[in-house]
Amino acid sequence: MSVFWYGGDYNPEQWPAEVWRDDVRLMNRAGVNLASVGIFSWARIEPREGEFDFAWLDEVLDLLHAGGVRVDLATATASPPPWLAIAHPEILPVTENGVTLSSGSRQAYCPSSPVYRRYAARLVEAIVERYADHPALELWHVNNEYGCHVSHCYCDTSAAAFRDWLESKYGTIESLNDAWGTAFWSQHYAAFDEILPPRAAPTFKNPTQVLDFDRFSSDELLECYRAEAAIIRRASSVPITTNFMGFFKHADYWKWAQEVDIVSDDSYPDPADPQSPVYGAMQRDLMRSLGGGKPWLLMEQSPGAVNWRERNAAKLPGQMRAWSYQCIGRGADGILFFQWRQAVAGAEKFHAGMVPHGGTDTRVFREVEQLGAELRALSEIDDLLGTTVDASVAIVFDWDSWRAVEQQASPTAVSYIAGVFSWYRALASAGAMVDFVQPSDDLTARRVVVVPSLFVADDEQLVALDAYAAGGGTLVIGYLTAIVDPDLHVRTGGYLGALRETLGVWIEEFAPPASPDLAATGGGTPRALAVRGDLIGGLGAASLWGEYVRVDAASVDAVFEGGALHGQPAVTHHDRGAGTAWYVATQLDDAPLGALVDTILAAAGVDLLPKVTGVEFMRRGNHLLAINHSAGAVVLDVFGTDILTGVRASGLTLAPQGVAVVSAG
Ligand code: GAL
Repeated sequence: MSVFWYGGDYNPEQWPAEVWRDDVRLMNRAGVNLASVGIFSWARIEPREGEFDFAWLDEVLDLLHAGGVRVDLATATASPPPWLAIAHPEILPVTENGVTLSSGSRQAYCPSSPVYRRYAARLVEAIVERYADHPALELWHVNNEYGCHVSHCYCDTSAAAFRDWLESKYGTIESLNDAWGTAFWSQHYAAFDEILPPRAAPTFKNPTQVLDFDRFSSDELLECYRAEAAIIRRASSVPITTNFMGFFKHADYWKWAQEVDIVSDDSYPDPADPQSPVYGAMQRDLMRSLGGGKPWLLMEQSPGAVNWRERNAAKLPGQMRAWSYQCIGRGADGILFFQWRQAVAGAEKFHAGMVPHGGTDTRVFREVEQLGAELRALSEIDDLLGTTVDASVAIVFDWDSWRAVEQQASPTAVSYIAGVFSWYRALASAGAMVDFVQPSDDLTARRVVVVPSLFVADDEQLVALDAYAAGGGTLVIGYLTAIVDPDLHVRTGGYLGALRETLGVWIEEFAPPASPDLAATGGGTPRALAVRGDLIGGLGAASLWGEYVRVDAASVDAVFEGGALHGQPAVTHHDRGAGTAWYVATQLDDAPLGALVDTILAAAGVDLLPKVTGVEFMRRGNHLLAINHSAGAVVLDVFGTDILTGVRASGLTLAPQGVAVVSAG
């Protein structure tokens, strides 16, 4: 990319042709240089089976091209037209409860349906044939947010595809029976034909069946993507993407990211949630990490309020710009929106647009123009666009563990993301830049690797984590790690499996605190736990999880205080080879976790960013970016030139939502 991309979803089919010229004029005014076109245009491109109408799209692409706006062209397969479902009702998705979902909304297709795939392929072939050589084409946008509404389909077609997937995974029915533990509750299968998707059932379903169905469902969606991408690649060398959705449980993006030429993301943090800036930062860091550190693209964000929350908070003045810079600081090379012109009809007419219902004399449009102008200017600055971000701290993120630890009938009800987020928040507020990794990645350059919860772990992963610590790394393991293998069979002999050697501890028994809302009796003990240790700042609070940790060789840094766990280890560390391995046996509150993280980062010699309350710092290329997320002005004690204002200063004042991009020179 030679400029920062700037633009958004453009849906000209929702407007009369007269508006299109005005759109291009306004796009130029706003500095828009990339428009995502055709995402929901199937019914307009193919209004009747096999009858293609490209005249309107020709005109749109030519207009954009004449106006200097590049095109991210969609394959239009995200929302099949009504005629297709009428001719082939078997493409409609079916829920776990057996309800068939109808047309009239979007994404009403079963990902495994060969009929859907055939029609989608024909559409993609027609689009590619027509536009592969169009001079405006910059990027291919395959489908849209795969799995957003229909991540799992339970119809008979899906059932058959699931059986094929299982057969190629397991080879024989007996190896499936072993993996699924079907000796339990009389679930033994005599043949693959007997297997169904995990449809609604009287009580707990087979956990491995459920996890396999999750894996299968992600793979089926990925197959849809692959099939479209293959058609494109035969005729075009233009890069291909499909838009991810941040921390989306139903698609294993480690796998998906291997298949896209550029990672792109849709991101809608709630402006009303005070945690959103940090959660947003975590999402950006995941996107950068999925692409192995390469620049990524913010494909969608809202210029203002969305329309799908119970309360749709408007963005504060400057907040859209501030959050956009968060993406830039964390490795994005483009900022796009949903959508260009705010709709007047349909289910998203109250969702903000870059050109709002109120027109151009509005705060939103002025902010859109301002950011467009700034990004154009920033494209000229050396050492920002296209550069990478260095992070010496990494968090292990694992989709199987996420899915499995949140299944029913687990040791306790937990939110995997909340656990990851608590570590991320502690590391980010200590001033660390963080990447996300898999245990199989090369970890040697990381000073600290945090594993919030690798609930599902295979032997190689545990060996890799051990090798990292033994090789001189600082490994931090959180509770509910290495409890089961990839078939969800428990690792017996004291939980933690091979990490027992690494950590110098093992777990004898789980003892999560009771929930305050014990349904049967209305009783229960408070959820809070207390922990004590100098290293965590004395007496601290914890919640959610406790356990009986047995020490083989580790040093105990904090213990549970009070209750049945009184005096039991809560935080330990162990010298492992040339490195150190920490274990944390509970969900520490922010204060003790922050104290622990400060100690760990200092001992590991991690380079930290400046720390100012309410201010987010990021380093990208040769630049330090600062965003004031707080409600009051702050003065920053940083040196250099703010390239947004040209001010060379030590002591920059940032208003609320203010941004500085400070070059070291
Ligand atoms: C996304 C989707 C867009 C639009 C947007 C509204 O999930 O890709 O088409 O619906 O949400 O926030």
